[in-house]
Amino acid sequence: MRLVILDDYDLASEWAAKYIRNRIIQFKPSADRYFSLGLPTGSTPYGCYQKLIEYYRNGDISFKYVKTFNMDEYVGLPRAHPESYHSYMWNNFFKHIDIKPANAHILDGNAEDLEAECQAFEQKIAEAGGIELFVGGIGPDGHIAFNEPGSSLVSRTRVKTLAKDTIVANARFFGNDLSKVPTMALTVGVGTVMDAKEVMILITGAHKAFALYKAIEEGVNHMWTVSAFQQHPRTIFVCDEDATLELRVKTVKYFKGIHNRLITPTDFYAVLY
Ligand code: GLP
Repeated sequence: MRLVILDDYDLASEWAAKYIRNRIIQFKPSADRYFSLGLPTGSTPYGCYQKLIEYYRNGDISFKYVKTFNMDEYVGLPRAHPESYHSYMWNNFFKHIDIKPANAHILDGNAEDLEAECQAFEQKIAEAGGIELFVGGIGPDGHIAFNEPGSSLVSRTRVKTLAKDTIVANARFFGNDLSKVPTMALTVGVGTVMDAKEVMILITGAHKAFALYKAIEEGVNHMWTVSAFQQHPRTIFVCDEDATLELRVKTVKYFKGIHNRLITPTDFYAVLY
């Protein structure tokens, strides 16, 4: 496991964006070798997407041979609703880059058969050869994607009822009206993300500090589903100083000392895990 601690949100976003950029460049994607990237929504990855758009505009990177798979989507929210994860991804990222729409996969929360939609999503990931890098975010209760506390740590893509904490946390996107927040979602499972070759989880802000502590300093626990990634061979937690407030000084000192070096395309395999 790596824990990369940056001073603030902007620097954490930049680090994450550079890491994604470098991994794609190092992979050398082409027409018969696509890079599969798992992606989250939320306020946390916004800064990272802004940076990736900047790198695209500078000509540093292309997404022509990248396939993306989003972690989750609300059930029953119209696709064009401004708070749907479809809208989020198109408005904040996809429409600004050169990804082909057919290569940007997002679960359809309005599918007639939601179970079949989830199975088809797993199938598409498998057909793409699995996910090279899955980028994720977490809720303050330590859920990854919409894998709420108590979710199976070997779960696959499925329909999930949202926890009250999640509905309250996401109400800010729905005019703080709890009754407008969808109560169900489609989400990749913990097992789906665990199958990725590499996982990078973005955690910023003091309100996520307890979750980060539970994620890395205590044991694997299905009540804090992000803690499952302690058992993934290549997990990077990228956070800001605020998110480290509940960690031991010893933990912070150890990781700050060794893990903050940005990996360049050429020395990618020299990283510490
Ligand atoms: C929702 C999403 C998660 C996301 C989380 C955190 O619960 N299902 O995928 O990581 O929100 O969002 P934010 O980054 O806005 O704190």
